[in-house]
Amino acid sequence: MLMKNETVQKPHDRMAAYLAKDMQAVNDLIRDRMASEHAPRIPEVTAHLVEAGGKRLRPMLTLAAAHLCGYDGPYHIHLAATVEFIHTATLLHDDVVDESAQRRGRPTANLLWDNKSSVLVGDYLFARSFQLMTETGNMQVLAILSNASATIAEGEVLQLTAAQNLATDEAIYLKVVRGKTAALFSAATQVGGVIAGTSEAAVKALYDYGDALGIAFQIVDDLLDYQGDTSATGKNVGDDFRERKLTLPVIKAVAKADAEERAFWTRTIEKGRQQDGDLEHALTLLKKHGTLEETRQDAIDWAKRAKSALDALPDHEVRDMLRDLADYVVARIN
Ligand code: IPE
Ligand code: IPE
Ligand code: MG
Ligand code: MG
Repeated sequence: MLMKNETVQKPHDRMAAYLAKDMQAVNDLIRDRMASEHAPRIPEVTAHLVEAGGKRLRPMLTLAAAHLCGYDGPYHIHLAATVEFIHTATLLHDDVVDESAQRRGRPTANLLWDNKSSVLVGDYLFARSFQLMTETGNMQVLAILSNASATIAEGEVLQLTAAQNLATDEAIYLKVVRGKTAALFSAATQVGGVIAGTSEAAVKALYDYGDALGIAFQIVDDLLDYQGDTSATGKNVGDDFRERKLTLPVIKAVAKADAEERAFWTRTIEKGRQQDGDLEHALTLLKKHGTLEETRQDAIDWAKRAKSALDALPDHEVRDMLRDLADYVVARIN
């Protein structure tokens, strides 16, 4: 019998092992391009974040999609590195915006250096990602990745106005999540197919898979922000509550709140007058209304949708790994 941890780790590890040679090339390319001859602060900050690891889920998706579609050229490596650069740039910016103190088990760059360094090095990484993708010479992947970059920024800005507003509902939440997170997952899978010159129908299936997987992933991340284990996530618990973000468990709890509970959410989320014990009380309300469990079920449903999108793709061992990856994403909350 497998230990619980092995069950959770397995799909991700199996895919990493299958793609190991390519991932090594991606990591080498990332290391090469995150350097700068002129500004020593850049490699300091990028090394801090890159050497800390990260799950490398998005570049793996690009490599997997390219393999699945039978690609045998060199450019899936550039595209995978591009996707990880875009991701890393958004993390640098996101931790400034969210005033987060921990990322990948280390203090954030904004804490170790400052906001200015995080914003500017994030910009540098964005620019480097665009240089990398132009090297492929493929206009279609340029369009997909530049659109995704705009959509991510839109999602983060939409979140700004949705935060602190108790009127934020599940439809708005979905829009935020599709933008800030799923857009990069779906772009990552799509470009793998496009560079391989696969059919429009297959590219659409890759989009649908990445979109649903990204949504499931962010829903799980939002759950872990309330009930995760810092040693496993490498991030602090309670960041979203402190930042007064209306994430799915809270949106569902606000919808079920009585007058007294609504007053609590108004004080802590809308007015931001938080005191000791509020995070614990928020958790009590989420549990009372069963919204953590409902949210978990939503994540499972999105993972199911991701898996069914794969039906339209060729039968291939990588397709099975992508199916397992969808299970792994939601297994993180078990
Ligand atoms: C963090 O993504 C940002 C979200 C979309 C929640 P990951 O959890 O994939 O971050 P790393 O790269 O593994 O650190
Ligand atoms: C993900 O949202 C943000 C981006 C990917 C831009 P979060 O703010 O929830 O991500 P974490 O929790 O800080 O990683
Ligand atoms: Mg954040
Ligand atoms: Mg989060």
